[in-house]
Amino acid sequence: MNDLMSAGLHRLWKDHLVRTLSPGAGQHHLDVAGGTGDVAFRVLRAIRLAEASLGDQKPTGQRSRGSVTVFDINADMLAEGQRRAAAQGLEDNQGGLQWVEGNAEQLLFQEGCMDSYTIAFGIRNVTHRDAALREAFRVCGWGSVVEWLSCVWLRNGVGMVYIMLFAFLGGIY
Ligand SMILES: C[S@@+](CC[C@H](N)C(=O)[O-])C[C@H]1O[C@@H](n2cnc3c(N)ncnc32)[C@H](O)[C@@H]1O
Repeated sequence: MNDLMSAGLHRLWKDHLVRTLSPGAGQHHLDVAGGTGDVAFRVLRAIRLAEASLGDQKPTGQRSRGSVTVFDINADMLAEGQRRAAAQGLEDNQGGLQWVEGNAEQLLFQEGCMDSYTIAFGIRNVTHRDAALREAFRVCGWGSVVEWLSCVWLRNGVGMVYIMLFAFLGGIY
C-alpha cells in the first residue's frame, strides 16, 4: 500500500524520519500504527548503534537499554512484523522490541513513559485524530519528540506532498 501510494519513496522518507529523530542510547520509543515494523526496526538499529558507540559507558538515567514498542490495531500486522524481526535477527532477548495491539486513540501506556513517538502513514486511518494526538503527548514526557509522517496526493493527481510534522514537547516547530 505504501509502495503504491508513494511510488516506493516511503523508504527514503522513513530513513529521513529516523535520521531526524536521531535516537539515542537507552531511548524508549513508541511507533504507533507501526504495522510490520518498518519504522521500528530503523529506530531500534539506531538505538543499538548509539549504545554500542558508548562502549562500557552506560546511558544516563535508570534505563540502560533502549527499546521500541510497535503499537497497532491489527494483530495480523503485528504477527507479520514479529516474523520479519526474527528473520532480520532483531528479536534479541533484551526486550528491544515489544508488540502491542491497540487503538492509537487510547494508548495503553502510562503518562510520560516514552521518550519519543512516531506515527508513519497511520494517522489517515485513525477516526479521532485529536484523541490520537492527545494520547501521543500524554505518553511522552517533557523533552520528548513526537513525529508524524504522512503523504497526500494533490487533487489534480500530478504530485504528492510529503508531510512531516515534528513536535518537540515544550515547543512546536
Ligand atoms: C499504511 S499502514 C502503515 C504501517 C507502518 N507505519 C509503515 O509505515 O510501514 C497503516 C497501519 O495503521 C494501522 N492502524 C489503523 N488504524 C489504527 C488505529 N486506530 N490505531 C492503531 N493502528 C491503526 C493499520 O493496522 C496499519 O498497520
